[in-house]
Amino acid sequence: MIRVLMVCLGNICRSPMAEGVFAHLVQAAGLSDKISVDSAGTGSWHVGETADRRTLAVLKKHKIPYDGRARQLQRIDLDRFDYVLAMDADNLQGIRYMAGSPKEGQAFPEIALFLSYANAAQLLTETEVPDPYYNNKFDEVYALVSVGSQALLDHIRKTHDI
Ligand code: 4NP
Repeated sequence: MIRVLMVCLGNICRSPMAEGVFAHLVQAAGLSDKISVDSAGTGSWHVGETADRRTLAVLKKHKIPYDGRARQLQRIDLDRFDYVLAMDADNLQGIRYMAGSPKEGQAFPEIALFLSYANAAQLLTETEVPDPYYNNKFDEVYALVSVGSQALLDHIRKTHDI
């Protein structure tokens, strides 16, 4: 199983959106037995909560189910996941700080910006998904997450020959 973890700050807006959209694409591609996806936040404020109602509304509009609850990123996630993908540069820095440097024989994930695959494929000029919590730009987040998810799936399929 190839394990993907989407990470943002609160795990209620962006990373649940990315988790839901990516899981939907994986399922449509018939790859649910080969690729799994989860999400987490670097912060702890919203642990246990459902996704933000604005994220849920956008997902519903696009007929994408989501019923995850917020959780905080833990060090052990970095041993368990193959791809740990940050929504923005602050999250990326937090993940890298938690990861430290790889030790001999230790499993170490690919830690990257979620949009880096779409950016490398020249599908987007953006490299970060902006925080929509205060500016309400949830449709913009969805647009970025859709392109990012497709590019990520293409990258994983190519890399793992699936
Ligand atoms: P997220 O958005 O990182 O995309 O889940 C946020 C959610 C909550 C807060 C900030 C960003 N907050 O400050 O509570």
